[in-house]
Amino acid sequence: MKKFLATILALTMILALAACGGNDSGSSSAPPADSGSQSSEPAASSGGNGDAKTVGIAMPTQSLERWNRDGAYLDEQFKAAGYNTIVTYSDNKNEQQVNDIQNMLAQGVDLLIIAAIDGNALNTVMNDAGAAGVPVIAYDRLIMNDNASYYVSFDNYTVGKLQGEYVRDALDLDNAAGPFNIEFTAGDPADNNAGYFFNGAMDVLKPYIESGKLVVPSGQTEFSAVATDQWQTDVALDRAQNVLASFYSGGAKLDAWLCSNDSTSLGVAQAVTADYAGGNSVIITGQDGDVANLRNIKDGVQSMTVYKAVANEAVVTLDLAKAILDSGTADGSLISASGWDFACDYDTTSYQTSDGHNCPSFLLVPDVVTADNMEEKLVTPGYYVVGADGYLEATNG
Ligand code: GAL
Repeated sequence: MKKFLATILALTMILALAACGGNDSGSSSAPPADSGSQSSEPAASSGGNGDAKTVGIAMPTQSLERWNRDGAYLDEQFKAAGYNTIVTYSDNKNEQQVNDIQNMLAQGVDLLIIAAIDGNALNTVMNDAGAAGVPVIAYDRLIMNDNASYYVSFDNYTVGKLQGEYVRDALDLDNAAGPFNIEFTAGDPADNNAGYFFNGAMDVLKPYIESGKLVVPSGQTEFSAVATDQWQTDVALDRAQNVLASFYSGGAKLDAWLCSNDSTSLGVAQAVTADYAGGNSVIITGQDGDVANLRNIKDGVQSMTVYKAVANEAVVTLDLAKAILDSGTADGSLISASGWDFACDYDTTSYQTSDGHNCPSFLLVPDVVTADNMEEKLVTPGYYVVGADGYLEATNG
């Protein structure tokens, strides 16, 4: 029940943020602006005291909806558990994230939770954390440094696989005559997850490309050709417009556009709506369940999103942090001991921070959301509510 209340509180904060535009320039609304950090005392109800341990929570940016949700959930849940928190958003700028983490170390944090902007570019602060004996939980995105003590995320490969399978089934690739035309948009090359998403989808769809059932008119099937810097909607929009102008203006039919997440999906959907001349509805995938994308799904502009319950990701992170800090057992036995009412795997072989160095990982299970199951998957568990206009909102406040 406590977790549910924390969820409601966090969602209220997100709605306030959304009302302010939720951009990186920041506002006085919580969560704090990207330009700085905010120390918080433990929630009054927790009976916190000066001896409470402090947890540094470094999120990448406020410009993408999901990270606002993650930051809010983590902050609320750690405070409710009696920890002090410092939360930063670093405007998708690696140097700023390095500074923010350095400041946290200088303030004597007991544990760091980091969703890296660039998983390859945090070596200095990660080594500093290691030297100071501060454990680091790599949150959602792996950090390529052996001082990452644990990794908490969703099964990233499965996210891409679910997107690929959705396209496969929607086009009935095993039975329909085809051929069908498809394009791809992947994520940020600096984000270790992006390759997993792309490979998961490609592993499903590649056999159909090889057999000729699926055709990629642009010819762009390599990750490097379809990647999107910083997952930016505008970057995805520009590339989609170029592809449509170059390969579809002569009347070619576009059947599907596989997008790795919702921010890129927004750009692709905008380009398709404005610049694609065909009369068919185009299958477009996504990931995250961002509110704007849920609207597009309801309107038939986007077909699906892979939803990751970030509230549960925060629950796992909190319980793992408690085990690390308060000398519980920080291994797979946490799963049975925790009593979580959602699935989570303990994996010690899939994610390596360097050659031969496995990072013990807690991996949650992603889920497919479409117009048909949106209420069951998102409203019934309490993640969203149906607004007066019939579209989903983060909360009714
Ligand atoms: C990924 C994350 C996705 C998506 C993307 C853009 O690392 O796993 O859920 O949000 O970043 O921020």
